Amino acid sequence: MYTKKSLVEISHEMAETLINKGDKVIDATVGNGFDTCFLAEQVGNKGHVFGFDLQEQAIKNTRKYLKNIGVLDRVTLFNVGHESMFQYIPKVYIEEIKSVFFNLGYLPGFVNSSITKPETTLLALNMAWRLISNEGFISIIYYPGHSGGEEESQCVKSWVSNNKTKYIYYEFNSQSKNRPGCFIIGKYPYSS
Ligand SMILES: C[S@@+](CC[C@H](N)C(=O)[O-])C[C@H]1O[C@@H](n2cnc3c(N)ncnc32)[C@H](O)[C@@H]1O
Repeated sequence: MYTKKSLVEISHEMAETLINKGDKVIDATVGNGFDTCFLAEQVGNKGHVFGFDLQEQAIKNTRKYLKNIGVLDRVTLFNVGHESMFQYIPKVYIEEIKSVFFNLGYLPGFVNSSITKPETTLLALNMAWRLISNEGFISIIYYPGHSGGEEESQCVKSWVSNNKTKYIYYEFNSQSKNRPGCFIIGKYPYSS
């Protein structure tokens, strides 16, 4: 039977091959905490996840979820925008971060969910690029379908294509206006 994987599943599969126990990683858009939880399991009890979200309720729900699963001790959650991440990541981890995950847009089901915005997303992508190690990678899933999403998606695509030193590990750029796209990029060629 043919099953089509979601972009989230694809980004997780890539992360499974690249993230090692003990790594330090960032979830730039915590939301319901599914990516945060996945990352916490990948880095193990010697690693650490730093998570950012503007929505207080998302952070509260995720804290509870991670506690129930037993991985909260390896996660630090910040109720601030990812555009400030550089201030919050301990200096010793600059250029030591293995991965930064961006799942852009808004949180479905949340009334008045915060929505990621082109300007702040670009600031955060530049910070993420400075924070990752030579073996590190950034995963970005973007959504053109909602209001403001097309502009943000174009910004993400320009940011990737203007970044001449990057290597693209995975790219999906849908021809349909309403379907999400994805980039997974790193500083050096991908070798599993
Ligand atoms: C698509 S959801 C993320 C889904 C999440 N990764 C998960 O596993 O459930 C996007 C999230 O980005 C958050 N967000 C919006 N603007 C943000 C910003 N400037 N910094 C950090 N998070 C932001 C929203 O509050 C929302 O929770």
